[in-house]
This record gives sequence, C-alpha cells and structure tokens, in this order.
Amino acid sequence: MAADHTGDVVPPSLSAKVVGSFAYLTVRDRLPTILTKVVDTIHRNKNKFFEEYGEEGIRAEKQTISLLSKLRNELQTDKPIIALTDGLDDADPWNRYLQRQQWQHGNQEVVSWFKSPWLYVECYMYRRIREAISLNPPISGYDVFNEGKTQSFFESQQAIMTLCTYFEGFNKKREDVSENELQEYFNKLLHVCLWGNKCDLSISAGMDNSQKISPIDSLVALQTFILVDDSDAVWSTLFSARQQKKAGKNISSRVDFVLDNAGFELVTDLALADFLMSSGLAQEVHFHGKSFPWFVSDVTAEDFHWTIRQTMVANHRWMSQRGAQWQQYVKEGVWSYHDHPFWTQPNEFCDMAADAADLYATLQAADLVLFKGDLNYRKLAGDRDWDHTVAFDTALRGFGPAPLCSLRTLKANIQVGLQPGQGSKLSSQDPDWMTSGKYAVIQFYRPNTDQQDSPQNQ
Ligand code: F6P
Ligand code: MG
Repeated sequence: MAADHTGDVVPPSLSAKVVGSFAYLTVRDRLPTILTKVVDTIHRNKNKFFEEYGEEGIRAEKQTISLLSKLRNELQTDKPIIALTDGLDDADPWNRYLQRQQWQHGNQEVVSWFKSPWLYVECYMYRRIREAISLNPPISGYDVFNEGKTQSFFESQQAIMTLCTYFEGFNKKREDVSENELQEYFNKLLHVCLWGNKCDLSISAGMDNSQKISPIDSLVALQTFILVDDSDAVWSTLFSARQQKKAGKNISSRVDFVLDNAGFELVTDLALADFLMSSGLAQEVHFHGKSFPWFVSDVTAEDFHWTIRQTMVANHRWMSQRGAQWQQYVKEGVWSYHDHPFWTQPNEFCDMAADAADLYATLQAADLVLFKGDLNYRKLAGDRDWDHTVAFDTALRGFGPAPLCSLRTLKANIQVGLQPGQGSKLSSQDPDWMTSGKYAVIQFYRPNTDQQDSPQNQ
C-alpha cells in the first residue's frame, strides 16, 4: 500500500518496474513494436504526402519519423519522461501531471518509462505520437491509425450484416414484444456489445468465427467466460425509467457510451444504442470518444461519422437501413458525439470530479453510463494492484457521477469484484486469464443518490 497524490492509502499502481509483469512486457516489447508500426505507416505514405503537399510533405514525413525514433529510443533506454512542447490545448494539464508524478516520486527516483505507473507512460506515448505529428504541418492532422481502423471495419462486414439482420428481427415486431422478449433482445445486444471489445478483428475476420459463426449465435458458448455479469441490474435501471415514462411521468432517459474501439466494436455500440432508442429505453444517447488518435484503434469523431456513413452506403438492405437510422438520430440531435481532453489524459477516473469538473457534471446528467473496454476499466479502477475480491465501488474510489457499467474483456492484469477464490482458481487453470481477452465482465455500480449532487436530483 502507498499514499497517492490525494493522501489516500491505496495499492501501488501497476508498473513496468515489476520485471516480468504484464506492464513490464508491454513497455519492453509491445509499445516499441507499436512505435515501429507508426514509423512504417508514415514512411509508406511518403508518396501520398508528396502528392498532397509536395516537398513540404516529404520534409514533414522525415521530421516526424525522426521525432518518433527519438521517442522510441527514450522509451527503450528508460529515459526520464519529458514535458510536452507542442503548446496544444492539453499540453498544460499533461505537464502538470508530470510534475505531480515527480512530486510523488520525491527525489529518490526519476519519472521514467520503466519506473512510473504503466497507465501514465502508456497514455504518454500516444500523446507524444500526437506531438510528433502535430509539430509537422502540413501533415499535422494525419491519423496514423486510420488504415487499421478502416480495414477492421471492412473485415467485419459479414458480422455487421448478421447483427443488422438480427436487429431487423426485433424491428419488425417491436410494437408487440413482451417484457421478457424485450429483455432477451436487450441481453443479447448488450453481450454482443461486450464481446465486441474482445478483439474486433477476431470476432469479425478471425479464422474461426468470422463468416461462419454469427456474433449472436456465439453468445451462449461465451457466457461461461463472463466472470461478473450484472446485466440484470443494467436492465432494471433502464426499464424502471421506461415504466415511469409510460406512467405519464415526464422522464427522458439519457444513456452515455464512453466509447472504446472503432471497427466492429463501434458497430456493436451503435446497435445497442439504436435498440435503446427503438425500444423506448432511452430518448437520447451521448457518445464520448477521443479527440485525437489513441491506443491504436480508439474512436475519434472522424471514425464515428465515417462508420455511420459506411454502414448507410453498404450494399445490404438491413445494414444500410440501420446506417440511415443512425444518421437520422445524429441529424435530429438525439445522438451526439462528444470529446473532452480528459479522455486522452492519463488520470484515473477518481480524479475527474476535481480535474475535469465540467465532464463530471455532464456525466451526472446521464441515467446510465456505459464504459467500454479495457483501458476504461483500468482508469475506473485506477490501474492498481487490487486484490481480486475488493469491491468494484471500493476500487472506484468515489467516482460515481451516475449509475455506471463497465463492459470489458480482460486485457490487463487488473480485476476486482470477484468471489473469494475465483481469482486463484482462474490463475491455476489459465495463467493468462487477465490478459488474453478471453474473459469478460459486465460490472455495474449505482452511486448512493442521497450523496449525489446531480442537478436532476435537486
Ligand atoms: O493489451 C493491453 C492493452 O494494450 C492495454 O494497454 C490497454 O488497456 C488495452 O490493451 C486496450 O484495450 P481496449 O481497447 O479494450 O481499451
Ligand atoms: Mg481501445
């Protein structure tokens, strides 16, 4: 246990300083590999930059690669983390965060790639990629991960069509489905949305399950890999609001999605959001994404709108119909995309109320917030070395703007809220259970509304 910057005594942050840990292997092996791929992508696009910007484009390409190579060298030789110099809007909070880290480390240790919290240095790497590109106009708006994201969408076509066809089954009879049937549709779409996070490419285009097994049909077999399944609590939260509305109360439910990856996962998010709207479980949906390319496949505004457009123009009746409906929701303003710099900062979410009070207040107006994916889970639970039996709300450390649920497949060695013995049993059966993406959780938390300061509760 150690005191954090607020003085709370909490388990230590996961860090590459634990040699052999998943954090260590990530910083040693996976992050440099990602940087190498980024360099390759920029180099491969040299001709495109030349065609678009002439010699200036070539100069920018060379200069960006040189900054990225320097970054990779700093990482691999465990150099101190340095302040950002690009002067972009979020540079100050990033630099203040570095000072906070330096202060916490005291004088004993420098803040460096292998000695500092993994969550911090991994986020910092993506912010430095942004810096390298942004310092080099005319290519400063280039999304180096775009190719992978669009490819992943196209490789998911079969799975997307299957999902949209399933949706049409609901659409046809939505006026007269029973409550049980409605809950069954909800559960399926919630679970597809969960497994969408497993690895979009593996669900959509993997050797085993892409064209042959539909994302709906595979749900039964996957159920056994869900370690915590609070679907019923999520359902009750949404359904009780709908019942109140039916009883004539002027209630409008808003569900917020804190998005994760583009590609198939984003389509599963949109399908679930569509279902919530079509069934009257929500009247408004806010999607929160990233304001710059992040963790390889995370959704930006560009990805969000591109995905809707591509779905709309698909040569498949039910798919294009869903895309048109999504576009309509956006046009009417009942669906909206939001980005906030906090989502691309390294903070644990328990910092949000103090460090991004405006965002916290925005989330407080939601009736439910769905947090997609592994990185969001790490930030919810602070990326700390918690015992597996610690309750989810303990790990949230006061973060609870609204009822919230994490839909996450496990890709990092942090997991709370398990039964006594469940973690050790999994470790003996399957040593990689926390990092393989094979297991998942649907973990719900309802804050005590008496303590809430929400405008809707006043
Ligand atoms: O595989 C680990 C990792 O790169 C983590 O660093 C990160 O938490 C996660 O993958 C990203 O996954 P997701 O897209 O589900 O947030
Ligand atoms: Mg991601």
